[in-house]
Amino acid sequence: SLDSYHVSKQYGFMLPEPLAELPPYYQPWMDIAQCVPELIHSHALRARIHQMPQLDPMFLQKYRELRLAHLALAVMTMGYVWQEGETGIVKVLPRNLAVPIWEVSQRLGIPPIFLHGDGVLTNWRKRDPEGPFDIENMELLLSLPGGESMEGFFIVTMMVEKAAVPGLNAIPVVINGVRRGDANMVTRALEDIAQAIGSMTEKLSLMHKHVDPGTFYGTMRIFLSGWKDNPCMPEGLVYEGVQAEPVRFSGGSAAQSSFMHCFDELLGVSHEPQSGAFLTRMRDYMFPQHKRLIQDISSSPSLRQYVLNQDSDPLTTAFHRCVSQLVALRSYHINMVSRYIVVPAARARQLRAQGQGCVKNALSKAPKALEETGTGGSGIMSFLKTVRDRTKEASQPTP
Ligand code: ALA
Repeated sequence: SLDSYHVSKQYGFMLPEPLAELPPYYQPWMDIAQCVPELIHSHALRARIHQMPQLDPMFLQKYRELRLAHLALAVMTMGYVWQEGETGIVKVLPRNLAVPIWEVSQRLGIPPIFLHGDGVLTNWRKRDPEGPFDIENMELLLSLPGGESMEGFFIVTMMVEKAAVPGLNAIPVVINGVRRGDANMVTRALEDIAQAIGSMTEKLSLMHKHVDPGTFYGTMRIFLSGWKDNPCMPEGLVYEGVQAEPVRFSGGSAAQSSFMHCFDELLGVSHEPQSGAFLTRMRDYMFPQHKRLIQDISSSPSLRQYVLNQDSDPLTTAFHRCVSQLVALRSYHINMVSRYIVVPAARARQLRAQGQGCVKNALSKAPKALEETGTGGSGIMSFLKTVRDRTKEASQPTP
């Protein structure tokens, strides 16, 4: 069952009912973490963090406490590193932040940086606890600069995660159906998956209403980016009190979201080596239980081979519908990246070429390092297109 993989029947990969408070001893963390956008705005976050007491994470006991602690420490870490933008970088994360984020990360089995698993999977609460899980009724526990656009970015992504849930619940049904040789069971479960992927694309389209491209490109992206494959931090970051050598970690990326990996493995999408290597590396930025689910799907008997062998029309149609819905979702994402990254990047270059007079425009201050690179470090457009094109090939008859 999916329970043993920390996947909830109701919420999928999202943490059910995340904690909003840590034990009182950790209040100094929460006091800062809750004000990160304001403290960055007033350029005071680094100074506040320098004054923060060195707290021992050993008093964090419950799993959900560890999750909230990681979120809070990771929000502070991103704010600390990027407070002054691309040109005012620091190379050392101070020990009162570095040691606890390192230890909490070790206990959770994830890297000491802000992840999709923090900003999206752990970062939510319903305004009205009895109300629905919809955009209007959701709020973030913690945020980063970008105001309503940053909130919208995380909350819309939560809606996409939630829309995946019926599809995730159908995965074990597909696998069992293949094992038992029950083609009807497999067909029906694949139809559920195709439908879920379609509704994910629908939810993704809410981004247009809730996230402003100029704010996304000019203000938000740097706070999601990391210190690996990033030319402005080539050596990485020193975690003071942990080790003297700098270490590199990738920034947040949708590739850290587990559901796409699950569907790819189930449908037998075979990725091109370079983008495949990036996707595989991103599995180390997931919770270990989620990564294990992906691996177990990948080692189950081949669905694709089963569909070919059965040669049943409804089964083949359902399989192809899953693949084409996945392609459509990826194409939609590519269009979105045009609007939110490619177009503003061109505008930013233009503004810079025109020189002064536009320094006030947030776009002209957008990080150069992220013009053609995703916040996770991929060559964003070529990566997404290669992944999409390889997805299409899963429908071809030769395995
Ligand atoms: N990965 C997304 C970007 O590059 C968030 O902006």
